Amino acid sequence: MATELQHGAAIEIDQLYKQFGKKNVLQGIDATIHGGEFVAVVGKSGCGKSTLLRHVAGLETATSGEVRQNGERIDGINQQACLMFQDSRLLPWQNVLTNVGVGLRLEGEWQRQAAALLKDVGLDGRGNDWPAVLSGGQKQRVALARALAGGPKLLLLDEPLGALDALTRMEMQQLVERLWLIHRFTALLVTHDVSEAVMLADRIIVIEEGRIVMTKDVSLPRPRVPTAPGFADIQETILNELLGIQAEKPLLQQTN
Ligand SMILES: Nc1ncnc2c1ncn2[C@@H]1O[C@H](COP(=O)(O)OP(=O)(O)OP(=O)(O)O)[C@@H](O)[C@H]1O
Ligand SMILES: [Mg+2]
Repeated sequence: MATELQHGAAIEIDQLYKQFGKKNVLQGIDATIHGGEFVAVVGKSGCGKSTLLRHVAGLETATSGEVRQNGERIDGINQQACLMFQDSRLLPWQNVLTNVGVGLRLEGEWQRQAAALLKDVGLDGRGNDWPAVLSGGQKQRVALARALAGGPKLLLLDEPLGALDALTRMEMQQLVERLWLIHRFTALLVTHDVSEAVMLADRIIVIEEGRIVMTKDVSLPRPRVPTAPGFADIQETILNELLGIQAEKPLLQQTN
């Protein structure tokens, strides 16, 4: 199978339901994510995006249904996945190098690996700095390096760029794409930013009240720019779905 040639994990989400108390948060999610694919999940606040991501990470127990990774049910923490959040969650009492290598330190040579990752994210030579002296964008670069340190088969990104200014955000999008193209992990990105989803994803899933209401393939050539032909059309389709705007029907219908 083609997916077996990919480095990334293949994910199948099968009739996934999640209730918190009486609240139905996920209501029968079905999705297949191929190995090495980049999928974005968009939807209004509270629609269940993070809950879905947490199931894929193995951090939640489904009410019913299941998530499979390479054909095996995810049961407990997903060891092949790495998570990245809106805040960097760096350890403030450890320097940058140690933060990157925190999961590597049982391996010899971890410093060299961590330093190489810092270089990959554009922070060459910053290993001895403390997290407190870094900018928001730099902290997210360290978090990205740390997420990549274990050579993940699956990168789960929950609004990782949400707190960054527009320019830093665009730089980070380019960095995430470049590293994804090199390492070919599977990426699942939750974002509020439709433009970011179109910029990065092979496919965009729109969720509304715990259900998938739209799946849109994005086949634009990479690297993408918002001014590229077709970009704005896809963005508009997704936004219309999110805002509940129906495509205009022609006023006059041809009879023959
Ligand atoms: N552990 C929990 N206990 C109870 N309710 C929860 C729990 N986790 C999430 N919820 C509820 O589930 C719903 C979906 O939450 P979730 O965090 O998945 O939304 P989201 O789409 O990620 O929203 P946002 O875009 O604001 O991050 C919300 O109503 C939330 O209050
Ligand atoms: Mg969320």
